[in-house]
Amino acid sequence: MGGRRDGPLMRSNEKGRRSRIAAAIAIGVVFGCVFALLYPHGLFVSTPLHSIASKSYLQFNLSSCESSERISMLKSEYVAAYKKNAELKKQIQELTGKLRLAEQGKDNAQKQVLVLGEQQKTGPFGTVKSSRTNPTVVPDVSANPRLAKILEKVAVNRELIVALANSNVKNMLEVWFSSIKRVGIPNYLVVALDEEIANLCRHNNVPVYERDPDNGIDLVGRTGGNHAVSGLKFQILREFLQLGYSVLLSDVDIVYLQNPFEHFHRDSDVESMTDGHDNRTAYGYDDVFDEPSMGWARYAHTMRIWVYNSGFFYIRPTIPSIELLDRVSDRLSRGKAWDQAVFNEELFFPSHPGYDGLHASRRTLDFYLFMNSKVLFKKVRKDAHLSKFKPVIIHINYHPDKLSRMKAVVEYYVNGKQDALKSFPDGSDW
Ligand SMILES: *[C@@H]1O[C@H](CO)[C@@H](O)[C@H](O)[C@H]1NC(C)=O
Ligand SMILES: *[C@@H]1O[C@H](CO)[C@@H](O)[C@H](O)[C@H]1NC(C)=O
Repeated sequence: MGGRRDGPLMRSNEKGRRSRIAAAIAIGVVFGCVFALLYPHGLFVSTPLHSIASKSYLQFNLSSCESSERISMLKSEYVAAYKKNAELKKQIQELTGKLRLAEQGKDNAQKQVLVLGEQQKTGPFGTVKSSRTNPTVVPDVSANPRLAKILEKVAVNRELIVALANSNVKNMLEVWFSSIKRVGIPNYLVVALDEEIANLCRHNNVPVYERDPDNGIDLVGRTGGNHAVSGLKFQILREFLQLGYSVLLSDVDIVYLQNPFEHFHRDSDVESMTDGHDNRTAYGYDDVFDEPSMGWARYAHTMRIWVYNSGFFYIRPTIPSIELLDRVSDRLSRGKAWDQAVFNEELFFPSHPGYDGLHASRRTLDFYLFMNSKVLFKKVRKDAHLSKFKPVIIHINYHPDKLSRMKAVVEYYVNGKQDALKSFPDGSDW
């Protein structure tokens, strides 16, 4: 309601007032002349015209016809003052605008200097390419010296697979690390959230990292369900990035069939597998919203993309990546939310009033190479052509009977059992 005061109503009020002023002036002039004729010797008193305006400089004498000159003078003074006022207002607006731009410019310039180092000239048409590859952070060993030592041994080219596990997922973890070993991937690490998992890993020569047992957040790790552990993983991941490593964050309901590090572009902050199942849903499309009552404009175009899977993504150690992890853990710590939804919102929502978007760069991984279980069970296993290709990984994210489907995937792709996938329904039964 307050905003109305500056709206069109105000302008029409002003117009009305000005035409009233003009009318009053005209009446005053007529009266003045009439009185001058009737009382040529000036036997009367001066009458300030309060009705014109309350402003004192508009009060004047009607002692003679000369007043009309004075009126027009005052009128032009009024108009001049009015114009000057408007000009001043405009100047103030311009100045505050310039100030704001200057502040933004300073802010952006600082960020740009941080990112690029120097300004560039534009090249010719068609040659201009923006960068989505942010510089990596300076490794900070003090963030976690013990982990830094482990990573020195485990990582290859400063990158590695990381999975969090507690004993709730023990059986899947075994299938998971067996598949990694089979492919011959050396750079992977299990973050053991309880003693049983730590022992399992040591027993199987699986690189393992145990968090500081005195650290409060490990209670979540030991006792937490799937979603609680998901929140924890963003906090733990941060330390890896602070130490300057790229991480392929991996759930344990995943079977590795090739080395994933041979398939990343390393040009974005985040490269993620998708929950999409075809080119459109995986890579984005124009989803037209139809509202027939709008007639001529019934079709509204919307941008749509199936979410990134927060259980399998490759993240580079950059400032936007670390900010992403911080934003997600912060939001997860403040209330009930699904980590995958939060992860996607932070990655995709642009800046808008009251919100600064993250604008991290991102790349959707090939959904046939980094395959979700919907693509496998609804399409690929039934397609004579597609079923011959070996994906890089298969993530049993769409099905609750994870362990049996993981084993079937191994049977099919590793042991060549052609009917290993046949017995499963497309979706789950409930
Ligand atoms: C009006 O006229 C009187 C006498 O002629 C003068 O004293 C007075 O100052 C005038 N007022 C204005 C506002 O000009
Ligand atoms: C999907 O996209 C790929 C390239 O990303 C293209 O080669 C392929 O033909 C597309 N498939 C369909 C069905 O459009």
